[in-house]
Amino acid sequence: MTNFKEEYKKRVTFAIISHPDAGKTTLTEQLLLHGGVIRKAGTVKGRGSNKMASSDWMAIEQQRGISVTSSVLQFNYAGKRINILDTPGHEDFSEDTYRTLMAVDSAVMVIDSAKGIEPQTRKLFEIVSKRHIPIFTFFNKLDRDGRQALDLVDELEKTLGIQAYAMNWPIGSGQVLQGIYDLQRNKFIQYDNVKNPDQSVYNESMEEIELLKDAGNQLDEDKVLRGAQTPVFFGSALSNFGVEQFLTEYLKYAPSPSDKATIDHKEVQPDNDQFTGFIFKIQANMNPNHRDRIAFVRIVSGEFKKGMDVTLARNGKKLKLSNVTQFLADERENIETAVPGDIIGLYDTGNFQIGDSIYTGKQKVEFEPLPTFTPELFNRVIAKDVMKQKSYHKGIRQLVQEGTVQLFESWHGQEYIIGAVGQLQFEVFQFRMANEYNSQVIFEPLGKKIARWIKPDQLDEKMNTSRSILMKDQQDNPVILFENRFALNWFVDKYPDIDLESKL
Ligand code: G4P
Repeated sequence: MTNFKEEYKKRVTFAIISHPDAGKTTLTEQLLLHGGVIRKAGTVKGRGSNKMASSDWMAIEQQRGISVTSSVLQFNYAGKRINILDTPGHEDFSEDTYRTLMAVDSAVMVIDSAKGIEPQTRKLFEIVSKRHIPIFTFFNKLDRDGRQALDLVDELEKTLGIQAYAMNWPIGSGQVLQGIYDLQRNKFIQYDNVKNPDQSVYNESMEEIELLKDAGNQLDEDKVLRGAQTPVFFGSALSNFGVEQFLTEYLKYAPSPSDKATIDHKEVQPDNDQFTGFIFKIQANMNPNHRDRIAFVRIVSGEFKKGMDVTLARNGKKLKLSNVTQFLADERENIETAVPGDIIGLYDTGNFQIGDSIYTGKQKVEFEPLPTFTPELFNRVIAKDVMKQKSYHKGIRQLVQEGTVQLFESWHGQEYIIGAVGQLQFEVFQFRMANEYNSQVIFEPLGKKIARWIKPDQLDEKMNTSRSILMKDQQDNPVILFENRFALNWFVDKYPDIDLESKL
C-alpha cells in the first residue's frame, strides 16, 4: 500500500507551452525516451507530416479535426512521476489549450533560438503568468544557426517581463556549436557532433559566462516558485543535447502538487484526507457509436480509489467512480488508485461540466470557477432548418455550457454570434450540433475581432457601428467587437472615460 501523502510529493504535473514548430513534440519525445516510455525517436508524432500522435487518442480513433485533444503522458524519472499535459497548437489551438494550463503546477516554455518569442508563446505565457506558476525556459535548436544567447535572454526578459536566470550557457551555435556550459556544476558539456572546433567561439562564450556570474541574476528559488524568475536552458531537442541536464535540473526545482482555492476562499491542501478534484476538460465523441465522453479530472487532494462515491458540488448529485481511466503514452489504462497531481479520465454520460468540482465525504468543496478567455474569432450562426428551432436552441445551450464555444447575442437579441480562441472549436461545435442534436448550422464568418467588455451604465447605443459591433454575453453584459486595433484605438480616443475590459 502506498501512502498517498508521500506519493503525491513525487508528482510533477506540467505543460509545455510554445509556438508551433518550436520543438514541443520533439522535446516531449526526448523526455519520454529518457523516461523509458518509448524506445525510439519518431514514435510520438509525425512532425510536419500527418502521422498521428500517440498522445492523441482522438486521432487514433480517426476523429482528427472533430474534437480537441489535450491528452496526458505519464512517465517515471529519477524517483519522480511526471505528468505532461499536452497543449495542442496549430489548428488544434482552442480554449481547451488554455484550460489545460489551469490543471498544471508548472510550465516549460520552448522557444526556437532562431526565432525568439513568437505570438502563441506570448499568449500562453500570459495565461500561465497570471496564475503565478513556475515557468522554465528551454531555448531549442541550438544545433542551428540562431540568434545570440544574450540577445534571446534580453528579449525574453523585456517582452515577457520576467527575470531570467541562465542554468546553462551555449558555447556557439549552429555550425560552430561546441557545447554548453553548466553553470550549476561549473562544467563544460561538449556537443557530440562538433563540426568546427573553434577556440575563439569558446573564449568569447567563456567571457559571457564570467560576465553572467559577476553581474547576472542570482537563482532565487522563491522567485521561481512565484513565477517571477524563469530558469533558462539551452539545448537541442532533436539531437538530444542538453535535454538530460534540463530534465534533471527541472525536476529539482519544479514544484509538487499545490493547494487550490475554493469559492469561499479556503485553500485545499493535497495531503487533506478528503478526496477532491476538478474537471478542466471534457472530451466528447471519442467514439461516435457510443457517444462517450471523458471528463478530465485533476486530483487536488486525497487519494482516488476505484469505485469510490463522490458528490458533484454543482448539484449535489452522488456518483460512483467505477469507470475511470488514466493516460499513458500509448494507451488508456484502467486504474485503481491515483493521487494529487494526477489526471484521471471519467467516462461521462452527461453529468459533468467543465469547471465542476467533485469530493468525497460530507463537507462540500467547490473550487473557484475556471476563468473564461477572450475569444478572438467569431461566426454568426444560423439554423439551416428553420423547423428545428427547438433542437437548435437546446444544442447551442448545452454546448455553450460545456465550454465548446462562447455565445453572444446581438444587442437587440436578433442573432447568435459564437466566439472562440481557435478555429477548431467552431468545427467541433458544428459537428456536434449535427451529430448530437440533429441540427445543421450555417456559419457566416465575422473573422478576427477584438472583444472588450464595458460596464452596462457606460453603454451608449451610438457605440454600435459597422467597425464596433455591440453585443451581449450570456450574462447580458455588453461587449463590443472591434474590427481591428485601429478601430479599438479610435474608440479609446473618442470615449476616453470608458473602461474596456478583456478576459484572460
Ligand atoms: P512543435 O511540436 O513545437 O510544433 O515542433 P516539432 O517538435 O514538431 O518540431 C518542429 C520542427 O523542428 C521539426 O522539423 C523538428 O524536427 C525540428 N526540430 C525540433 N527540435 C529541433 C532541434 O533541436 N534542432 C533542429 N535542427 N530541429 C529541431 P520538421 O522538418 O517540421 O519535421 P521533420 O520532418 O524533420 O520531422
